[in-house]
Amino acid sequence: MNDPRIIVALDFPDQCTALNFAAGLDSTLCRVKVGKELFTLAGPQLVEKLMKLGFDVFLDLKFHDIPNTVAAACSAASSLGVWMVNVHALGGSKMLLAARQALGGKKTRLIAVTLLTSLNQNDLSELGIADTPETMVQRLALLAQCCGLDGVVCSALEAVSLREVTGEDFCLVTPGIRSSSDGNDDQVRIATPAMAIRSGASYLVIGRPITRSPDPLGALRRFNDEVASVL
Ligand code: C5P
Repeated sequence: MNDPRIIVALDFPDQCTALNFAAGLDSTLCRVKVGKELFTLAGPQLVEKLMKLGFDVFLDLKFHDIPNTVAAACSAASSLGVWMVNVHALGGSKMLLAARQALGGKKTRLIAVTLLTSLNQNDLSELGIADTPETMVQRLALLAQCCGLDGVVCSALEAVSLREVTGEDFCLVTPGIRSSSDGNDDQVRIATPAMAIRSGASYLVIGRPITRSPDPLGALRRFNDEVASVL
């Protein structure tokens, strides 16, 4: 079965632009990610249209609420037919288990965000957390795995140690991907596709290097070739 490793982040401000852009990609080469902005504007209809174009959709809404509410939200996402949905591991084990149970044997994959990459040591101290971000990431990833989740979002740098502790079957979804010729944009810790796959990443989330390219399909093909060269 075709299992594209690249997930293109459709970070567009409106449905029309997102759909036109997706129509110019190739669903055998990538999956797509719909985040909070686009989903808030365009909703389930957009997800259905992307699926009609043949794309697997990662609904990146990072649910974080009481267990009952998150379970219902995951169930709703799954009934849309999305390929992947995510929650915050910081919601705790009861919330994670409720989300897992709500998805049961359904095909929608459930992954967790560990610690937002925007949080540094000072931010954690402010929240009363003495641990380092690295320790927190590892603890939250293991908590997600214990609760039966399919994987976590992490940076390529975190992937190396997470792969060691979580084993082969846990899914590591890695943003912050740039080719050596791209700029960093606002990403701080970046990796090339080859570095990310070698570090243990299962899927790579790529936004601007593809969405802002003058030749998005060409850029996607080049990223895919680099992934294929190290698989
Ligand atoms: O354009 P760029 O490749 O930087 O987009 C990366 C995508 O991954 C964006 O949708 C961003 O919100 C998401 N993301 C991230 N870092 C995280 C989690 C998600 O960049 N830690």
